[in-house]
Amino acid sequence: MKRIGVLTSGGDAPGMNAAIRAVVRTSTAHELEVIGVKRGFAGMIDGDFIKMGPRDVANTIQRGGTVLLTARCKAFFEPEGRAQAAAKLEEAGIEGLVVIGGDGSFHGAHYLCQEHGIKVMGVPGTIDNDLYGTDFTIGYDTALNTALAAIDRIRDTAASHERLFFIEVMGRHAGFIALSVGIAGGAEEILIPEQPEHLDQVIETVRQSALKGKASSIIVVAEGFEGGGLKVMEAVSKATGLDARASILGHVQRGGSPTAADRILASRLGFAAVEALMEGKTDLMAGVVADEIHFTPLQETWEKRKDVNQKMRLMAKVLAL
Ligand code: F6P
Repeated sequence: MKRIGVLTSGGDAPGMNAAIRAVVRTSTAHELEVIGVKRGFAGMIDGDFIKMGPRDVANTIQRGGTVLLTARCKAFFEPEGRAQAAAKLEEAGIEGLVVIGGDGSFHGAHYLCQEHGIKVMGVPGTIDNDLYGTDFTIGYDTALNTALAAIDRIRDTAASHERLFFIEVMGRHAGFIALSVGIAGGAEEILIPEQPEHLDQVIETVRQSALKGKASSIIVVAEGFEGGGLKVMEAVSKATGLDARASILGHVQRGGSPTAADRILASRLGFAAVEALMEGKTDLMAGVVADEIHFTPLQETWEKRKDVNQKMRLMAKVLAL
C-alpha cells in the first residue's frame, strides 16, 4: 500500500483533528502518502482531495471541529453514489481509507469495502458514545465536560429561583451522555431512552422531591427520551404546578477544545488504524476496550448493542435521595 485517504464524516466531535493528525503522522513515518478527503463522503464523490503532510496537521491537536470539514451525505446511501466515489479513489490511487465518524459513516465505509474492495478502517468519532466495540468514542469526554459546565451554571440559577430545571443533552437514540453527566452533575432524575420511565413516575419523583424539602432540582433528559426536555418539562409542570424551565444544550456540546482524554484516545486510534491497514486488515473499527486497542467488524459496531451501565443508573437514584 502506497497511498491512503482520511476523512471525517457525520456530526463533528472534539478530537477529530487529533485523530487526523495521528493518521497523517503515522502514515508518514511508514512512508505512506496521505490524501485528505474534504467534507466526508460528499467530498469523495466530488473528488475533493488534498495531499497532507506532517506540517499540515501542526497546531491542530487542541482544536475542536474538523480541519477536513464534514457532512452527512445522502448520495452515499445509494450504490451509484458509492460507485462514483470509488472511481474517484481509484483515479487518485487511494488504496486504503481511514473513516473517522459514527455509525452512519461506518455503514458507508463498510459498503465501500464490500462493493469496491477498498480497504477501510473505522475510527469512532462521535459525542454519542453509542458504538459497540469501544468503551469510549472520540468527543464523548469533551461533550460530557461541556454539558457538565452548563449544568453547574444552571444549578446556580435554579437554586436562586427555587426552580425545577429540565436539561436536555444530545446523544441521538442513546443515553450515555445523559447518564454520565446526570451523575457528575448530581441530577435528581436522569431520563434515558434505554430505560424509558413513564411520565407518571417522573411526576411522582418530582412531587416526592418537593415533599422532601428540595426547593430546586435538576433533571437531565436525553434528547431521545419521550420527545425531549421541553415536552417532559411541560407535562411535569402542568401536573405539579411547579415553576419549571427547560434548557436544551444543543450543539454547544459538539464544540470546543478536546479534553486530554479525547486527544489521547484519538491519537491512539488514529495510530492503530494506520498500522492495521498496513497489516492488511480491513472492514474493522479500531476501538479501546479495557484500555487495550481492540478491532471490531464494522457491521457489528451498529448491529450489536452497547448497553448503558445499569448499575450506574441505580446508583444515581440512591444518590439523589
Ligand atoms: O451524532 C452526534 C449528534 O450531535 C447527535 O447527538 C445529535 O442527535 C445529532 O448529531 C445532531 O445532528 P445535526 O448536527 O445534523 O443536527
